[in-house]
Amino acid sequence: MPLKPLEAYELDRPSSDHPPRHSLDSDDSHAVDELDPLRDSKRPYRDNASHSLRSIFHSEKHALLGSPPRRSSRRWSRLRFCCLLLFLFVVTIFLLLSAGGLWVYKAGASYDGESEPWYPSPRGGTVQLWSRSYRRAAELVGQMTLVEKVNITTGTGWSMGMCVGNTGPVDRLGFPSLCLQDGPLGLRFVDNATALPAGITIAASWNKQLMYDRGRAQGLEARLKGINVILGPSVGPLGRLPAGGRNWEGFSPDPVLAGIAAARTIHGIQSQSVMATIKHFIGNEQEHFRQSWEWGTPNALSSNIDDRTLHELYAWPFAEAIRAGVASVMCSYNQVNNSYACQNSKLMNGVLKDELGFQGFVQSDWLAQRSGVASALAGLDMSMPGDGLGWQDGKSLWGSELTKAVLNSSVPVERLNDMVLRIVAAWYQHGQDDDRRWPNSTLGGGPNFSSWTNDEIGDLHPGSPDSKDTGIVNKFVPVRQTAEGGNHDALARRIATEGIVLVKNEGGILPIPRSANGLATKAKDGKLRIGIFGEDAYPNPKGNNACPDRGCNDGTLAMGWGSGAVELPYLVSPAEALHREFDNATVQVTDWKTNSVRKVDGTAAAQDLCLVFINSDAGEGFIRWKTVMGDRNDLLPQKGGDELVKEVAANCGGRNEDGNPVSDTIVVLHTVGPTVLERWIDLPGVMGVLIAHLPGEESGNALTDVLFGDYNPSGHLPYTIGKSEDDYGPDSKILKYPNGVTPQQNFTEGLYVDYRFFDKHNITPRYEFGYGLSYTTFKLSGLFIHPLSIVNTSLPAPRSYSDDVVPPHMDPRIPDPEAAVWPKGMRRLAKYIYPYIDDVESAKPNGRYDYPKGYDHYHKSTEAGGGEGGNPDLFTTAVSLQLSLTNTGNMVGEAVVQIYVSLPSTTTDIISNQTVALDTPVRQLRAFEKVLVESGSRSQVRFSLSRKDVSYWDVRVQNWVVPTGELRVCAGFSSRDVRQCGGFELIGGGGRS
Ligand code: BGC
Repeated sequence: MPLKPLEAYELDRPSSDHPPRHSLDSDDSHAVDELDPLRDSKRPYRDNASHSLRSIFHSEKHALLGSPPRRSSRRWSRLRFCCLLLFLFVVTIFLLLSAGGLWVYKAGASYDGESEPWYPSPRGGTVQLWSRSYRRAAELVGQMTLVEKVNITTGTGWSMGMCVGNTGPVDRLGFPSLCLQDGPLGLRFVDNATALPAGITIAASWNKQLMYDRGRAQGLEARLKGINVILGPSVGPLGRLPAGGRNWEGFSPDPVLAGIAAARTIHGIQSQSVMATIKHFIGNEQEHFRQSWEWGTPNALSSNIDDRTLHELYAWPFAEAIRAGVASVMCSYNQVNNSYACQNSKLMNGVLKDELGFQGFVQSDWLAQRSGVASALAGLDMSMPGDGLGWQDGKSLWGSELTKAVLNSSVPVERLNDMVLRIVAAWYQHGQDDDRRWPNSTLGGGPNFSSWTNDEIGDLHPGSPDSKDTGIVNKFVPVRQTAEGGNHDALARRIATEGIVLVKNEGGILPIPRSANGLATKAKDGKLRIGIFGEDAYPNPKGNNACPDRGCNDGTLAMGWGSGAVELPYLVSPAEALHREFDNATVQVTDWKTNSVRKVDGTAAAQDLCLVFINSDAGEGFIRWKTVMGDRNDLLPQKGGDELVKEVAANCGGRNEDGNPVSDTIVVLHTVGPTVLERWIDLPGVMGVLIAHLPGEESGNALTDVLFGDYNPSGHLPYTIGKSEDDYGPDSKILKYPNGVTPQQNFTEGLYVDYRFFDKHNITPRYEFGYGLSYTTFKLSGLFIHPLSIVNTSLPAPRSYSDDVVPPHMDPRIPDPEAAVWPKGMRRLAKYIYPYIDDVESAKPNGRYDYPKGYDHYHKSTEAGGGEGGNPDLFTTAVSLQLSLTNTGNMVGEAVVQIYVSLPSTTTDIISNQTVALDTPVRQLRAFEKVLVESGSRSQVRFSLSRKDVSYWDVRVQNWVVPTGELRVCAGFSSRDVRQCGGFELIGGGGRS
């Protein structure tokens, strides 16, 4: 199969797939200049960066099509050859797609409608904690006209305002335009904000307080910049596929670790009166085919997930986020069970709003909305960025179309009211009506930065070709160090430090001293020779922000790429920090700034200690770097990292008679996720290995904190490092070539992702989930398990419906269409999204609207619901635990105590009362604590497990069920290093607690 051309097609694809400066990536430079209002702006890094991105595309194309010929006859023959290639390519794609179609047809499967219909959309305002906000929202929304309501639900279009998402305001009633801005690790496109460590790094710290502090820092910086809604944290992708391009934005493939990290981040962000967004709901596990047309296929990939796996794995962290009171959920690009996530009624109406009791608003990912009425009925509340099926096309699926749909009764007024109430209630819920924290625009409120220029003065609606409105767009407000927030640079350093995982420390090579300190050296001058090897130790020579959205891997790796990346205000590289920290009087540092192995042996041979830096990068699929199209191509270090380590480690200090290196090598890996280390991990010279993840701006400082022992490493892996990519299982690979018109990705491994897969199949990983060394040692003892009586009831308490907390009553009548017509004399900007209709005629019903299947059937609420995150009884403590932790080494340190549960392998089926097999992971993380203990001291650690922690999702019962049989509980320092275990019998009881 000629697979390569697909990539060529990719390169040539129009930039309809969310480029941050979309038109800049186009190959049509004329079109670019005409459309791009930013072309003359003097933006030191962004503009250069855009050019460099363009040249990436161009140079790639030359690589594929050949370099320009010198003579015209050759030019013609080249051209003919190119045309032939192009023709063959088009034919191939056509055949591929039709073969897929044929295959789909042959298989007899109509993929439509595999997701159960769930209607009508549950209304918000059913939870005590939100009831005041809903009352206030109802008062305000009750005064709004139809177009005002629609204005709030729809973005104004890509780059029509200062933020990546901007909603329409209702000035008359003092409701502002909301500014929505990425993203999970800091503030994208914002000047001088902190470039915090990525999600994967904070997860590796396993420090709940730091998770909160990191969220709080983001929230505070967002508020000071005028950002109402942060587009983070991310728990989707969860990390089903270790090579998934965006795993690093989130936390871990373990749902409990991801859920706790998300909840703490949300509490932190929202403590600052900023709304958080949990994303991407759900099943967006890879970048290839995530969107229709972005990868050549007409439809986005469908993640086919069974009900139990959805509940126990992928929806778990979303449930935790909702329990934490998250204001917004972003639905994802992909389809789930062959229904687009942003119009999937089962997921949005059923799971999010009914079962998980979500009270905030669902916003679409940028262009993830694929329908107008259907998405509204399925539970979407906000269209982002407001454009239609293409970037900046001015043809919104909502805006005036939603106005019409309400007027012609396709979308019930009640649904529109609920959308608006949800948004306005979330705004009240997070205190954004308080003008001391959120001054209105006349008092200088609103965003004080522009995503589109670094200049002080700029266009107010740069996305519109006829916008001529300029004003002060960048006020350069300092936010990294404030009286309110303390020093966020210091916080970034602390997180990066705690996110470093020490995985190998042979003979206690680490920590190392700063000075020669009497250490033996071969050099005549008596100075200790230290060699720093590898590009990853040094800054990108073109500048820290040279590649847009960090879409390349040049220099030291501080974060992945895409919308989850930010501009680095500065970057302390490892080499800079090492040069600063080593004692120059007694140590001589040699730099080897590339990954080239040519003659590196000689330089390595002259060292007393070699530090090698390597990395592995990935990012969002709208950018490609070399052949990495978002998702990684493999799990190996990139840019020849393996070769560099092998060569340096084999030669460091020269070789002895046995052919082994005389001096030691320490490897530092910056990475977006699981990286296979097998090519060198067991080499005799490799004595120490640190996995420093994605550290953000404070990279070098964090590293030296650990290297020199100023901080005792405490990071643990938030994923498994296998010995090969195959060890993660046959279903763990990125689907790179379409297997149908709608690429199908079946999550057939079910619950068995990451360590669950390794445990089930008894595969020995290199380093297991939860693993991490310290410079000291710890002991666990005296595990005490206390089951509470509720564990002996199989089901949670019945869902309760409170009469006091009901959605506000709103006028359900269809308003007068006349009031929705364009006001006379109003200036319209091209492509800007407005809620008005041209005339009353256009709002008249035009034929019958074909409602989705099942729309006429009122779906019953689930018993698993009733509160934010699910039935409140699911979170009742079922088991309490206690144990002692002793620091048995001679350095103060932090241990991460991890609690794993193993459910019984058989249970009594609560419907048939028969004993049946229970397919369940060998062990599952359910709780953890990071505890600081002085050398020689002991500390008591307590945990509680909830009913949900000891239940499984029963598909037939459609509820969480506590099984019968032995429940084993183990405490340890990783998923395979369990030190204390105990268990007790769950006796069940058909009844409810
Ligand atoms: C990403 C989202 C992001 C949005 C806005 C999309 O491409 O998938 O995560 O929030 O863009 O930048």
